[in-house]
Amino acid sequence: MRHFLLPTCLGALALTAVALVPFQPAQAQQATPAPTADAAQAEPFKLPELGYSYDALAPIIDAKTMELHHSKHHQAFITALNNAAKTDPSIANVPLEELVANAGQRPAAIRNNAGGHWNHTFFWQIMAPEGQRGEPSAELTAAINESFGSMDEFKKAFQTTGTSRFGSGWAWLIVDADKRLAVTSTPNQDNPLMDVAEKRGTPVLGNDVWEHAYYLSYNNRRADYLSAWWDAVNWNKVSEHYAKAIAS
Ligand SMILES: [Fe+2]
Repeated sequence: MRHFLLPTCLGALALTAVALVPFQPAQAQQATPAPTADAAQAEPFKLPELGYSYDALAPIIDAKTMELHHSKHHQAFITALNNAAKTDPSIANVPLEELVANAGQRPAAIRNNAGGHWNHTFFWQIMAPEGQRGEPSAELTAAINESFGSMDEFKKAFQTTGTSRFGSGWAWLIVDADKRLAVTSTPNQDNPLMDVAEKRGTPVLGNDVWEHAYYLSYNNRRADYLSAWWDAVNWNKVSEHYAKAIAS
């Protein structure tokens, strides 16, 4: 009996020990390979960081809206643009601003998705968490007063333009060819840098009036979203854009 008990117990212990060792797939023990040049070339367009957390603009823009807007909607433009680059690899080496500026000479997929990528990258930067928004510079304030009469009148003009954009699009404050401020709007993912824009200029401020930008909190009330949005604006960045546009 003793001759059989000892090997049986040892066998049970060995089985228990094997069972306690976690399974490790062979590849988990290898270092993750560095991306190759080919992989980088295959996806030349990347989703930029927001620079703040998804809940940083709440309650003006809720966290879920920000997460979906950034990680899904903006990412979708980038994915489509990378797919377009597989069909036409030459666009991988063209700066985004140039793709946008010549949008009318390119296929609709590039116009829409390069526009969507540029517009959203710009949009994230002109908003900021509380305490980091600053105030319009003296130069920007003077220019707004000159073009619109007052800050309040400018905001009314901007909101009216955003509210009256039929369907989806953007409202913009631009510096035009005469170095004057103007409010304008573009449909879809067009913007005022594009050769197809009705009124061209350098964007200083822009608001996304697609429903995906506001529907979860504001439902169909686009005017309420436009009105509340001013409290999220990063005036430090907007003033910086204005100074650069005037100097260029
Ligand atoms: Fe958007």
